[in-house]
Amino acid sequence: MERTKAIIMHQDFVEQIRKDFPILEQKINGKPLIYFDNAATTQKPKQVIDALTDYYSGYNANIHRGIHHLAEKATSAFEETRKAIARFLNAESSDEIVFTYGTTDGINLVANTYGEAFLSEGDEIIISTMEHHSNIVPWQMLCEKKGCVLKVIPMSDAGELLMDEYDKLLSERTKIVSVVYASNALGTVNPIREIIEKAHAYGAVTLVDAAQATSHIRIDVQDLDVDFLCMSAHKLYGPTGMGALYGKRALLDKMPPWRGGGEMIKEVTFAKTTYNELPYKFEAGTPNIADVIALKTALDYVENIGLEKIAAHEQELLDYATESLKGISGLKIVGEAADKVSVISFVMDGIHPQDIGVILDQQGIAIRTGHHCTQPLMQRLGIVGTSRASFAVYNTKAEIDGLVAGLHKAKKFLL
Ligand SMILES: Cc1ncc(COP(=O)(O)O)c(C=O)c1O
Repeated sequence: MERTKAIIMHQDFVEQIRKDFPILEQKINGKPLIYFDNAATTQKPKQVIDALTDYYSGYNANIHRGIHHLAEKATSAFEETRKAIARFLNAESSDEIVFTYGTTDGINLVANTYGEAFLSEGDEIIISTMEHHSNIVPWQMLCEKKGCVLKVIPMSDAGELLMDEYDKLLSERTKIVSVVYASNALGTVNPIREIIEKAHAYGAVTLVDAAQATSHIRIDVQDLDVDFLCMSAHKLYGPTGMGALYGKRALLDKMPPWRGGGEMIKEVTFAKTTYNELPYKFEAGTPNIADVIALKTALDYVENIGLEKIAAHEQELLDYATESLKGISGLKIVGEAADKVSVISFVMDGIHPQDIGVILDQQGIAIRTGHHCTQPLMQRLGIVGTSRASFAVYNTKAEIDGLVAGLHKAKKFLL
């Protein structure tokens, strides 16, 4: 009785939420869209879409330097987002929030400023086996430039980092430890607090790639004591091509700027330029004003529902999908860590992941196939890629049933 009541309430809740996402109303190939590519990017609620339209139709203006009404209104909305992100991450101050193009841009910023200024030949950077290319390549480029050494925390076949091996990699030479919080390819949630604590014991600075974590896990940067954290708005029901870097003030203060231009300066003469204060020192040029403003709407949207409530719903979907997919013979789940976000990767005997994607698309089901920008991880697992379904607040168990039916069809058609 209790249980039935809980399920009815739950379905109601999701049905209400689905109405906020106009894109979900459409049919693809004559079938209702089932959108399971949320780890690539989440869909946007109409509140976020409206925030973009409102800005462009009501108060589009360049920010910070204007004294007219529209410029002041745009500046104020823009800076409100900075405060909202600081609250969302529990940063001590909104000065510690730098707007970026997203997670990739944030990591590149740290590599090109902190890395450039404070690392030298022989210094070591530690990442993990399950990093997205965006948390590998910037460090490799830095290593090439500076003669640093990149070390990689190995992982078990289940997709969990081998923490004993991490201990062995750490030394006085370790200067940066940069690890993904939640893996986009496996769903694994890494023991990030322990990783940070251990890095700090050797005096290393830490960076967390929180691209996949922000929509599923409550993050408190002060409690984690993380030095840098990068996020992308589009993984969190916000716009693409924008995000934020959190950095501890003491570190951001001593880092040189990266991109030069307007906005990041205090005074420019032909002889010398002095730089603006935090966080503007790192924000050269006219920013992505509309998308920054719309991110605040996305954060409000998430907080109004409740991040914890969303996470609980997604966990239920993950458990249901895991059980359901295990019932398909010849299907193997890739990534079976004890702690996972709502990402489920799998391979099927005798079928290429891409063919699965094509057959599912014909049935209106959007999943992701391939290496998920984690080629070294795929090499570690000895596979070319996986099929990946990833769930968000608006997904339902009925949609997972649709996926299972679709996979049975794929088997019938392709084998
Ligand atoms: C774990 C992880 N890190 C980094 C990124 C890069 O994010 P962006 O493309 O928004 O910079 C992604 C995007 O898929 C990701 O999943």
